[in-house]
Parts: sequence; structure tokens; C-alpha cells
Amino acid sequence: MAILKSRKLKSIPAEITVPGDKSISHRSAMFAGLAKGTTIIDGFLPSEDCLCTVKAMQALGAEVQPLEEVEGVGLVKLAITGKGSKLQAPTHPIDCGNSGTTTRLLCGILAGQNFTTELFGDPSLSKRPMKRVADPLAQMGARVEGQGEKICAPLKVHGGTLKPMYYKLPVASAQVKSAVLLAGMFAQGKTTVVEPVATRNHTERLFSHFGIKWLREDDAVSVYGPQEPQARDVMVPGDISSAAFWMVAVAASPGAQITIKNVGLNPTRTGILNVLLRMGAQVTHSELQSDGEPRGNIVVKGGELNATVIGGAEIPNVIDELPILAVAGALARGNTLIRDAEELRVKETDRIAAVAHNLRLMGVKVTERPDGMEIEGGAKLQGATLPCFGDHRIAMAFAIAGMFAEGTTTIEGTECISTSYPGFEHHLDLFLHGDTAARPIPTISRIPPH
Ligand code: S3P
Repeated sequence: MAILKSRKLKSIPAEITVPGDKSISHRSAMFAGLAKGTTIIDGFLPSEDCLCTVKAMQALGAEVQPLEEVEGVGLVKLAITGKGSKLQAPTHPIDCGNSGTTTRLLCGILAGQNFTTELFGDPSLSKRPMKRVADPLAQMGARVEGQGEKICAPLKVHGGTLKPMYYKLPVASAQVKSAVLLAGMFAQGKTTVVEPVATRNHTERLFSHFGIKWLREDDAVSVYGPQEPQARDVMVPGDISSAAFWMVAVAASPGAQITIKNVGLNPTRTGILNVLLRMGAQVTHSELQSDGEPRGNIVVKGGELNATVIGGAEIPNVIDELPILAVAGALARGNTLIRDAEELRVKETDRIAAVAHNLRLMGVKVTERPDGMEIEGGAKLQGATLPCFGDHRIAMAFAIAGMFAEGTTTIEGTECISTSYPGFEHHLDLFLHGDTAARPIPTISRIPPH
């Protein structure tokens, strides 16, 4: 079992560049695999999750050519050549690893194919509800079979001819919205998804980028089928959800400053900037470019943080940042309340229970609620040995908490970090030791040749 040790932070790098955005990397690989022709994806996130998506598209007939690898991180530039939206039936079940995004979005694509595909994943993925995609896809004419009431993986996706539909999302989920819209590309006519609250819109932006006609009217997103994406190169910005860890580390360190370079600034993802501003940190960003997805540099200056309330329509915009924002709450003056976030209970682990458990082990008073938690800020954090429940964001959030604790904080089971942030440990070393010399360069994951 891999462990990670964290202790008081020693220095703060002037600038840092985080790896590519996970949501955009997954979607780029999928669209590229559905397009006729070659798409070059630059800034790709070579995490275990996104590599599962690339391997899945390979199994479905796309050709993948590695173009550039970064030591200790992995494949950051690749070319994917698709044969069009009629995919090839895979010869074996597809491994989705730990990745809910791979599984749910693939279900949407596979619903429109005239073959059956088996999808499976690790024990955490196998507990996550897939009924939320199985139900709407069944209404469109596909059948997703899974285990138990929640329709968990392993899944069998029986694709076929799809009918368009009008679907009101029962939960605010970009994955479900995307699965239905992707299926809509294969249906004859207009498929509409209505969102209760706005969720990340990377699928819609990539629709435009890959030449797919779509429409937004208020809270409804529609796509017209059948349509096939046209190959077009993608530049993936850095992942704001990965930048979040360093943003909080610096925001809670009076006098400190960091520039995080080339981060995605899509407004459906930048909620953390507003939360940190409310908490009293100085956060500015400069937009450099907007080629479909806005990107720029974020500057954070540290100070004394104050408690805040995080809830309502803001939740989908900060959903992946809530574990590290809970840590920020523990470091702030006053009681921070996270509410309306019951979705956290069905992530890679139950993130409400996991955060509350670990904060308590560090000496913080936390009241768990069905839809969130109340965190008593200002306690002196104590170093502890903490589980991360196989969840990458819990592991990284508590590596940051350890920087503010007395003594050493040991996080157990940290191999899961590679699902979203290859190279995290090296970046952590910059804060803990001022350099990365102490740690050997990790071996990276590769995609098998075709
Ligand atoms: C994602 C959407 C969110 C998020 C996940 C990535 C996406 O999940 O938590 O990490 O890429 O669409 P939900 O759609 O389940 O809220």
C-alpha cells in the first residue's frame, strides 16, 4: 500500500502548472474516437481515469498514437484517429477502472451502437449508481443491465436504434446530462435535457468544437441527431479541480502567494474562486485565451480565512472541490456549513463521511448532515494516520490538511491519486521540502499499442 507523509509546509513555489483537465480530457478522447479523421489532443491528462477512456475508444476501433510524454506524469499529447460514429464491437469487456465519467458517458455512446458492450470497473466504481443513466437511455430505446437496484457495474449496454427525447434531470449531474446528449447524437431528431441547476458544460462546448449542432434555451440543452463529430485538434487547459489543492494551501498561509498557470476558467467550474474570495483570500485571474474553453492564470494570496456557507446552485460548480474546501473550513475562523451536497455520498467514496472522519482524527469538530456538514474552524490540527477510502480527492485534501497540522500526517492508500493527478507527490514536495529531489521519478502508465 502506498503512503504519503505530509508535514508543515516549508516553502511555496512562485508558480505551478497543474496537469490537464479531467472532464475535458475524457470528452476529447471520446469525440476524437467518434470522428472520422485524426484529432491531436494536447495538454491531455494521462491519469488512470482518462487512460481508461482512451483504451475504451481503442477497443471500439479508434487508433491511438502517443506523441509526447512528460517524465513522471505520462502521455500529454496524443493523436486519435476515429472511423466515424459507427464504432467497432469490442472483442472483450471494457475496463473503466475507477472512472464514473468513463462509464456514464460511454453508456450514452454505446446506447447508439448496434452491438452489446460489457463495462466493468474497480470495487469503488462497482458501488456507484448507474441507474441514473440506465433509466433515460432505456426511454430512448437502449438497455443497460447492471447489478441490483442501483444498476451497478458490471454493466451490459445493449445499443440499438434510438428515439430522441425530452428529459428532465432528477439530479444535477453533468455525467447524466452528457450521457443523454451523446446518445442524442445517434437519435433521429431533437433530444433535450433540462437541468435543475447548471452543471459543467464541457460536452456542449466540445459539441461546438467538433461541429455538432446544439442549442441552449434557458435551462434546456438540445442536440439534433443524427450527427457525427468532425475531427479537430484540442488544447486541454489545466484542471482547476487539481489547482484547488494548492489554492487552499496558499489561501490559508498569510503572506504567501502563488500563480497557477494555464488553468481552465470555464464559469461552470470556477465556483472555488468565489468561495475562497468569500472566505477572505485574495484571488485574481487573468484570462489569456478562450478557444472554446477559457483558460488563464490564477493568483492566490494567503491571509486569515473566515468561515462561509456553501450550498444551493453553487454546489455542482464546486462539487469536486468540497473535500479541500472542507479542509479550508477547518482552517478558517468560525463555522463553515456545506449543504445541498448529498451527491457527495455517491462519489468515489461517501465524501461527507470520509471528510468528517478524517477531520475528526485531526482534532476538528464536525457535525455530519445528510446533505453536508458543519465544520468548527480554528482548532489546532493534529497530525494523524488517515485512510483515504480509495478516493483520490480525499487523499490530496488531507495531504494539504497535513501542512497545517502539528507533527506528521500519514495518508494511507495513496495509489488512488493517479486516477486524477499524476505527479501530485512531486508537486507536494515543492511545498514540503522546496524541491522534488527526495522522491524518485514514478513510473507512468502507458496505453497498449494498437
Ligand atoms: C464530471 C461531473 C461530476 C464530477 C466528476 C466529473 C464530468 O460528476 O463530480 O468528477 O466530467 O462530467 P456528476 O455529473 O456525477 O455530478
